[in-house]
Amino acid sequence: MKKKLTFLGIETSCDETASSVVQENTDGTAKVLSNIVSSQIKEHEKYGGVVPEIAARAHVENVDFIIQKALDKSNKKIQEIDGVAATAGPGLVVCLNIGFNIGKTIAVFGKKPFIPINHLEGHALSPGIENKISFPYLLLLVSGGHSQYLIVKGLENYKQIGTTIDDAIGEAFDKTAKILNLGYPGGPSIEKFSKLGSKNSFKLPLPIINRAGCNLSLAGLKTDVLRKSKKTKSKQDRYDLAASFQETINKILKKKTEVAMNIFREETLDDKKKPFVIAGGVAANETIRKTLKELSEKMNFDPIYPSKEFCGDNAAMIAWAGIQRYKKKLFNAENHIVRSRWPLDMKAPFLKGPGLKL
Ligand code: KG4
Ligand code: ZN
Repeated sequence: MKKKLTFLGIETSCDETASSVVQENTDGTAKVLSNIVSSQIKEHEKYGGVVPEIAARAHVENVDFIIQKALDKSNKKIQEIDGVAATAGPGLVVCLNIGFNIGKTIAVFGKKPFIPINHLEGHALSPGIENKISFPYLLLLVSGGHSQYLIVKGLENYKQIGTTIDDAIGEAFDKTAKILNLGYPGGPSIEKFSKLGSKNSFKLPLPIINRAGCNLSLAGLKTDVLRKSKKTKSKQDRYDLAASFQETINKILKKKTEVAMNIFREETLDDKKKPFVIAGGVAANETIRKTLKELSEKMNFDPIYPSKEFCGDNAAMIAWAGIQRYKKKLFNAENHIVRSRWPLDMKAPFLKGPGLKL
C-alpha cells in the first residue's frame, strides 16, 4: 500500500499564527491531526485593524510554541513528517517571512521537502480537506484582502472571472463594524448584531449591480453606511444599520454569483452539476452561506463549503495544499521568496484604482 503523506503546515501571512499537521486519506480527502490557530484579536482590537509591526512581533513570540503544539497534538514527531509547507504570500511581508523562514529551517535541518504555498491557493483548495471534490469548480474567495470569482481548473490552473474594483468584502465588514462601533473583527460582530436589527430598515446602494459582469464594488456602500451612521442615534439604529449592511452584501453576492455561474457555464461548456465553493473568512457568514446554497440548487451547482474552522486563516489548508503540490511535483523552494502580491490567475487584469471604467 502506498504511504499516506503527513505534512506540517505553517501560516503567518496576517494576524493569525497557525500550525497544523495533516495526513492524506486514501479517498483523496485529508485527516487533520491538529489545527492550532492563535489569533491576535486582542493585540489589534484597539486599532480596529491589523498593525503589521505588532502582528510580526506576535508571530515571532508565538510561532515556535504553536508549531510544537501542533506536533504534540498530532502525536507526531518531526521525524515522522514527510514535508513542510508554509505560506509565502500574498500578505504582510514582515509577517510572511517569519513562518516562511522557520518552515524552511525545519525542512532543511530535518532533510524534508519544503513547499512554499500561495495563501489564496490554500483557501481555494480548502473544501477538499473534508470533501471529495473534482475540478473544475466555481470558487467565490472572500476574505479580508480578497474578493474574487475563480474557475478552479486544477492546481496552478485558475481563471479569475471577477474581482472587486475597490474594497474586499471582509474589509467592508471590518470598516462598517468600526464605523458602527460594534467591535473587531468586523465580520463576526456584524453577523452577531444583525440578529438584533431589522434588515430592511435602511436602503443602501448596490454598486455596479447590473453591470461589469461579476466584478464587485463596495466602496460606495461603505461611504453610505458612514453617512447614515452620522444620523443614527440609538443602539437599535446601529443594529438596524448592521443588519441592512449584511443584507445588502447578501443581495450583491446573490446577484453576482448568479452572473458568475452563467460565466462558468459559458467558459467550461459543461452543463452538468458542478461544485460551487465559498472559501475565506467571510465564508463563515451563515446568511451568505444559506443564500448561496439556495442559489446553487436553483442553478444546478453543488454547494461545497469548508467547515468554519477551515474558512478563516488556518494552517491545515496550507499543509493540505503542500501535500497536493508535493504529489504533483509542483514546487520550487530553492529560489522562492515571500511576496506581498501574488494573484492566483497571473493573467487577470488588475482592476483597481481611480479612473477605472467598467
Ligand atoms: O481569510 P481570513 O481569515 O483572512 C484573510 O486572509 O483576510 O478572512 C478574514 C476576514 C475579515 O475581514 C473578517 O471580518 C471576515 O473575514 N469574517 C467574516 C465573518 N468571519 C470572518 N465576515 C462576515 N461574516 C463572518 N461571520
Ligand atoms: Zn485568508
